[in-house]
Parts: sequence; C-alpha cells; structure tokens
Amino acid sequence: MPKPVHILGFAGSLRKQSYNRSLLAAAEAYLPEGVTLEQYDISHIPLFNQDVLDSGEFPEPVQRFIDRIAAADALLIATPEYNYSVPGVLKNAIDWPSRAPGRPFNGKPVAVMGASDGPWGTIRAQLHLRQVFVFLNAFPVQQPQLMVPKAGEKFDAEGRLTDEAVGEQIRALLAALAAWTRRLRGETGAG
Ligand code: FNR
Repeated sequence: MPKPVHILGFAGSLRKQSYNRSLLAAAEAYLPEGVTLEQYDISHIPLFNQDVLDSGEFPEPVQRFIDRIAAADALLIATPEYNYSVPGVLKNAIDWPSRAPGRPFNGKPVAVMGASDGPWGTIRAQLHLRQVFVFLNAFPVQQPQLMVPKAGEKFDAEGRLTDEAVGEQIRALLAALAAWTRRLRGETGAG
C-alpha cells in the first residue's frame, strides 16, 4: 500500500466564475487512490511588501498559506494567462512564501494546468511559471502538460467540467504528480 500523497491546490484567479478555479475543483473527481486534494483560496493574501517582511512577521493569511504549502506533499496550480504571462495575484501569492524561512517551495513537487478563453490554453503563462520554479527550486512535473483552450466550451454555467477529454487529462496529470512525489520521496516502484 503506497503512502498517501496530500496535494495543496490553488488557482491564480479571484473570479467567482473562474475557469481555473473550476478546473481545480474538477480535479477532485480524478484523484488517484491514496491521494487527497486541499483547495486553497489565495484571495486573502495581501500585496507583497518587503517592509512588512522586514518587520519580522508575515501577515496572518500569508503565514497560513506558508504553513499549508509546507504541510503539503505536492502542489497543483491552475493558472490563467494574463498578457502572455502569470497573473499578478498568483505571482504575488508565490512571492511571499518564497521569502519564508524554511523555503517551503524548495524541493516541492508541483504540477501546473491552466484554462483560457483563447486558443493556446495558457501555455505561455505556464512556461513563465516554470521559470519561477527554477529560483524556488520547486520540482515541476514536465509531462503531461495540461492546457484548456476555449474554456467557455468546456464548463457549464455552474462551472462544472463538461469535457471528458479534459477530465482524462486531469487524471493523467494527477497520476504523474503522485508518481513524481513518490519518486522524489525515494519510494521504490513509483513512476
Ligand atoms: C486575459 N486573457 C488572456 N487569455 C489568453 O489566452 N492569453 C492572454 O495573454 C490573456 N491576457 C489577459 C489579460 C487580462 C488582464 C485579462 C483580464 C484576461 C483572457 C483570460 O484567459 C480569461 O479572462 C480567463 O477567463 C481568465 O481566467 P479565469 O479567471 O476564468 O480563471
């Protein structure tokens, strides 16, 4: 029986009807056995300010986020694409923990996915996010990549995923993340 894998998931959009929040919510239905997903809402995270950091204490919502990242075995990020890059709210949320003692992103397995109204499904934003992982020393799943183009056609009015092919892509990404996590933990026979 393999050891459990606990994933912390967050989306880089604050919009109630966000496709990316919906994509993350959809992941609940495709979790491999022994894998749990905790959805984290980054909307309470304030704007990064080095002066606040220098005062010696992180704001409470930031500290909570840092603690959840540290406690997770792996991360799942659903990112929109803004102007060919990572939305400011997501980058801001990442910047705080990147300066935390204990470096919670260091060595953390992470998977990325994204949904966009456009034809490219966030690929440019995902590549920029992967660049950020270099400095964080987070360990991304390289394949599969999960882009959801024309997202308006893949979710219903309540934000439920209606496209089974996307569901199967989520299943494959979660399986790869779990296998990658177990491999990094040195568990034998894992992916
Ligand atoms: C966008 N959008 C967008 N889409 C895309 O495919 N490539 C892009 O570069 C951009 N740029 C962009 C900039 C800004 C400021 C906004 C507000 C939007 C459209 C974007 O994909 C769309 O709004 C998605 O619905 C955003 O994701 P959520 O909020 O649905 O998760």
